[in-house]
Amino acid sequence: MLLAFCRILTIAPLPLIFQHIIDKLMPEENIARILELSALTVVLLILHHILSIQGAARIGKAVAQLILDLRGQIFQKIQYLSFGYLDQQKTGRLLSKYAFDTQKIETVLMPILNFFLPNVFYSIATLAILVFLNWKLAMVVVLLLPIFALMRNRYFENFRQRNEASRVANENMAGTASEFFTALRLVRFYGEERQAESMLQVSNDEVARRRVELVRVSSSFASFSYGAIKMLSLVVVAGGAIMAIHGQVSTGTVLAFVAGLPSLVDPIQMFANISDQFFLGQEAYKSARELLMAPYVEQWKGCERPEPLKGEVLFDRVTFRYPDADRDALDAFSLHIRPGEKVALVGASGAGKSTVANLMLGLYQPAEGEIRVDGIPQEHLDMRWLRQRAAIVLQESIILSGTIADNLRFANPRASDAELRDAARLARADAFIEQLPQGYDTVVGERGAQLSGGQRQRLSIARALLRNPVLLILDEPTSALDYESERQIQAALETLAEGRTVVTIAHRLSTIRDADRILILEQGRLIDQGSYDELVERDGPFQRLLASAQGA
Ligand SMILES: Nc1ncnc2c1ncn2[C@@H]1O[C@H](COP(=O)(O)OP(=O)(O)O)[C@@H](O)[C@H]1O
Ligand SMILES: [Mg+2]
Repeated sequence: MLLAFCRILTIAPLPLIFQHIIDKLMPEENIARILELSALTVVLLILHHILSIQGAARIGKAVAQLILDLRGQIFQKIQYLSFGYLDQQKTGRLLSKYAFDTQKIETVLMPILNFFLPNVFYSIATLAILVFLNWKLAMVVVLLLPIFALMRNRYFENFRQRNEASRVANENMAGTASEFFTALRLVRFYGEERQAESMLQVSNDEVARRRVELVRVSSSFASFSYGAIKMLSLVVVAGGAIMAIHGQVSTGTVLAFVAGLPSLVDPIQMFANISDQFFLGQEAYKSARELLMAPYVEQWKGCERPEPLKGEVLFDRVTFRYPDADRDALDAFSLHIRPGEKVALVGASGAGKSTVANLMLGLYQPAEGEIRVDGIPQEHLDMRWLRQRAAIVLQESIILSGTIADNLRFANPRASDAELRDAARLARADAFIEQLPQGYDTVVGERGAQLSGGQRQRLSIARALLRNPVLLILDEPTSALDYESERQIQAALETLAEGRTVVTIAHRLSTIRDADRILILEQGRLIDQGSYDELVERDGPFQRLLASAQGA
């Protein structure tokens, strides 16, 4: 910025030089001095050029660094947002804040720092010179005030609102589009491309409509400011001419005014030109700030680490409801899991099984009741530490783009190659990995699209194994698989379960025969529990589940 200001200082005296040449040197017919002054001006212009380049490069670097930091902060914030809040956000909106809002801020910061602010300074410096030359003629700048007032009243608020509407429309479009991009397979299988197109078209139309409104306001604003500035020039020229006729100013001074006027009003013209970007940038900044200031972060602030973790989990009359849900997902739910115990949760879908897993690792906070791990309430625990000692295998395994090895090491970045192979072997994943073209270094593509469901699942089991977790949660890890894959994975899971606390959520009752204890959930309540054999004997809910499973 300092360089930018110095740059302005090199060109601010130009009106003075002009006035001097016309009023002083021309009557004296001092050609040598005129050439000298011209040469000085050229030197000043060269200096201006050098300072411009240097200044712009530095400002560019600073802005890039700023945006880098901002992106980092946004991502960090998203990582800590609570799932109650995240569930209600379209991922496209978050992406748009991370990728596009920051870009818009960058786009506007550069012209503001490098051109607009220095030009405001230029304008002030020029005004000072014009006042010095002739304060009466310089009073025309007072005319700028009503012009500013008019701009503020007629355009700014209007502009801001339309920009906001335009941004929201853009975010919605990005959200809907990213949803359809993830659902391409679904749409293709159903042959519903038309429906997808028309659904996306709605938000696309909205964006276009908002954009047109915005362009209308901004072009009317640009044209207004252009007219106002020309009017001002007219006043200066005509007023100057009249004053010159009365002998109140010299011709050179009028010339200096005409030369200085553009830089005087440059900020207005410039603002008219970047106003689009400016309001977009302001909007983008608001949107990024809204995220950065969002209070919906996970509230875990505890720092206790019960070392070594035994893996005892207690749900003490836990009641929980998802935000915006109309009934409780868990209702006074109590459960005590002893260290090293293998429990299985069964029940109809929607009974609350996954919710138990979510709460156990603190993805949501219960409204009532308490969850304790190794006797310590979650509020006092260092939840991130706990999560790092747990592992979860989900029904839909989440595979990252990158190689097989990268995916495995996500759970344990320090694992050696030998440990990777061991984990893969225990998870029955070694055979298929070794058949891949580059083995462990094969790139699996986004979300593991090149792998079958069973392969993905065994990969995610290997990943869980590599972490060597004290607490292992398996949320229907085999329900999406065929019988053969299921059998293989079942065997892998049994190896994985040894010496840990394991919570298995299962749909197929055949897979939970060996559990120490089976818990039956219905509508968020624990309605029965016992070993497989006990439950089979008893004429209760388990019988009904068995009957419906056989009937199916
Ligand atoms: N993220 C969520 N937001 C709102 N409601 C949810 C969410 N996840 C689950 N639910 C609701 O909570 C209840 C229990 O769901 P869940 O624990 O996933 O069942 P299960 O795993 O037994 O099939 C269901 O009624 C479901 O609709
Ligand atoms: Mg579930």
